[in-house]
Amino acid sequence: MATPLIIHHIDKIGSTQDEANRLAELGGVLPLLLIARSQSRGRGRQGRGWLTAPCALACSLVVRPEWSCQNWSRVPLVAGLAARSAIKEVVGLDVSLKWPNDLVTGDGKIGGVLSESSGDRMTVGLGVNLWWPDPPSEIAALGIEDPEWEIANSIALIWAERMISVLDGDFTHWGYEEYRKVCVTLGTEIIWEPDGRGVAVDIAFDGALLVDTTGGRLELRSGEVREVRPTTLDSDPGRYRGDDAR
Ligand code: BTN
Repeated sequence: MATPLIIHHIDKIGSTQDEANRLAELGGVLPLLLIARSQSRGRGRQGRGWLTAPCALACSLVVRPEWSCQNWSRVPLVAGLAARSAIKEVVGLDVSLKWPNDLVTGDGKIGGVLSESSGDRMTVGLGVNLWWPDPPSEIAALGIEDPEWEIANSIALIWAERMISVLDGDFTHWGYEEYRKVCVTLGTEIIWEPDGRGVAVDIAFDGALLVDTTGGRLELRSGEVREVRPTTLDSDPGRYRGDDAR
């Protein structure tokens, strides 16, 4: 990916993810970043929809990573780290990451990443809620109005450049230690669909979430898990460790 980033701006689109894929299919030069001012049919993980906030960043990056595809399980986590650092640089706010790739603050989820692959390409979408006076439950925004679209644009550009620089380098430098520090899922009891329950104890080097369950330690992979939620029900993390000293 030594070629310069090609940037497309668009006013209105159904999904930046679909449009970026379409441009890549048509032979668009990669890496390609598509940024939309408004998005009407955003897509989320696991076939869900994505509601785009009244003031939001919606963008998708198509890349041909230098990494071999067995290392691509780390890409969603790299995208979360790059988004976190771009938000910090542009608006000065610290956001945390909920495994695998939700951007969260104390108020709720403020953004998400959607990673998809096709052959030797990856399309990684980023949505960030900048301003949303009346968001749905558990959803929040950064509380920043951006009528000139400058903030959204700056976050997108910094995010894409950081992603490209990591994906052009050695995969072992993907940000493992940093991810473990900013991942708020660690140390919490979680449930996941269809019927999993345990305590998230660590991140594996390939990006999997390590979870202690009553049946032993499991590795959850982002593509295999539909939803991970924290639980406060019957919370007693010690029972997953056979911890007598609790
Ligand atoms: C998730 O949390 O489920 C991931 C949401 C990803 C949403 C972004 S918005 C820009 C890009 N275009 C889409 O259609 N989806 C992603």
